[in-house]
Amino acid sequence: MLEVSAAATVPDGVVAVGIPVIAGASGEGDEGARLEWFGRSDDATGAATGAVRELLTDAPDEAWLRRQGFSAAKGGSLALRGASGPPSVVLVGLGPRSGLDFERWRVASAALVRAAGEGGGAAALLVPDDPPGGTTAEVAAAIAEGAVLGTYRFDGYRSTPPPGRVERLVVVGHGEWADGLRRGALAAGAATFARDLVNTPAGDMTPRVLAERVRDRLSGLTGTTVEVWDEDRIAEERLGGVLAVARGSAEPPRLVRATYTPPDEQGADARRHVVLVGKGITFDSGGLSLKPADAMMTMKNDMSGAAIVLSVLSACADLGVRVKVTAIAPMTENMPGGRAQKPGDVFTARNGATVEVLNTDAEGRLVLADALSLASELSPDAIVDVATLTGAQVVALGKGVAALLGNDRALMESLQSAGDRAGERLWPMPLPDDYGEHIDSEIADMKNIGRAREAGTIAAAMLLARFVDGVPWAHLDIAGPARSEESSGYLSKGGTAFGVRALLDFLSHYTGPGDPG
Ligand code: BES
Ligand code: MN
Ligand code: ZN
Repeated sequence: MLEVSAAATVPDGVVAVGIPVIAGASGEGDEGARLEWFGRSDDATGAATGAVRELLTDAPDEAWLRRQGFSAAKGGSLALRGASGPPSVVLVGLGPRSGLDFERWRVASAALVRAAGEGGGAAALLVPDDPPGGTTAEVAAAIAEGAVLGTYRFDGYRSTPPPGRVERLVVVGHGEWADGLRRGALAAGAATFARDLVNTPAGDMTPRVLAERVRDRLSGLTGTTVEVWDEDRIAEERLGGVLAVARGSAEPPRLVRATYTPPDEQGADARRHVVLVGKGITFDSGGLSLKPADAMMTMKNDMSGAAIVLSVLSACADLGVRVKVTAIAPMTENMPGGRAQKPGDVFTARNGATVEVLNTDAEGRLVLADALSLASELSPDAIVDVATLTGAQVVALGKGVAALLGNDRALMESLQSAGDRAGERLWPMPLPDDYGEHIDSEIADMKNIGRAREAGTIAAAMLLARFVDGVPWAHLDIAGPARSEESSGYLSKGGTAFGVRALLDFLSHYTGPGDPG
């Protein structure tokens, strides 16, 4: 993982020096607009020599930059390589000054580390004393996140790993950058862990392996405990939904329950308790209601929710989260084996409710039902679940925005604000009481699907709502955002870990039930 640090001058040996550029205030794009950029003070140029020094002291002609295809307004980047080799100077567009937020710093930082090219080494980013778009700490965190996530790659399965990207980013400026950088790198590091878990093929990331990887990561962390339940314990605990889904698989299920307890000096905050629940289907074939081949190709990512909530837990101690956090993640494959549940079968969930399974591909809600019961039994202040739950979420909101549902408006609003700050957008959907009819069963307390082509995301959440026992609860359906089909911004093809940074931000700001944000 890329390292980030702060310095007062550009250190020797960097391969690229990034200069953030803001498009002028004229509001008409680049044409005729003045460019503003940072870091052309003698301090910052420090060790810079050759091409870099020239550019830092002598701004190139703006018309020429435009001819090179660089548009500060559109947020692109332009690498100018000096005749005498590195370092190159990378202009990174932050867009217009108006509306500049952390998200643009994340994208700019990712653009720099990518434009720096391959072959390792360090990049430097020149930053202004009073950065636009947020406090120094916020902008620092965003820069670290963009750089760590922008250099992320999953190469473990290539016989010849491609040459690496830069390994270090030095943020060059005055002021208090170090702590924000540290916090951003921690949050992005948690996301990196989640991405690795998600990107690992399902054949190698069975429930047993996932549980062990998480146990390894969490054990030894301050204030953190981790329990792994095997199939016998899962049966003893009457987790009927987990058992029903696991029946069709040769691999046994697991459930991980991990807790972070903040140090005593947090006083009242330490008594607040948030439970995170994550869907951990390590492969979703659909079961006997088998998916078509194309729909199955990405289904190793159906454990994203579990990876995300457990990664969040792994960063709580280092980030100094002040509230108690429990993460619960049921893990199983969804397979069509000889003992698989059959469409029409009924199981009894942990809370005693009976569920008729008319489509075995609607399996996420079954394992979440039991996990939400376990969560509500802890009587926490809030429950938040994260799941790649419905294709209908992708239809409604696409891959850039997750669906947010729940029974508590204040909780949902704090999550939405946290998501906005994290660049992980959440949008609310309703849970209308009368839609409860959609999941009425002919023979049991409920069925596991709603009406064909109607409100699929809501129907799934309606079922979940029946297992939280009145505890303030929010549900994030991340079916679309959990995976990216392209490498752009600070995302790379594959798992995105969408939700890790929003949840860490949410937990860092959480002050209890009824808190508006
Ligand atoms: N894991 C899928 C949802 C999903 C779809 C995630 C696409 C990511 C991308 C979930 O288990 C599922 O199969 N849901 C079904 C439910 C239906 C059978 C009621 C769906 O949405 O099609
Ligand atoms: Mn499914
Ligand atoms: Zn699924």
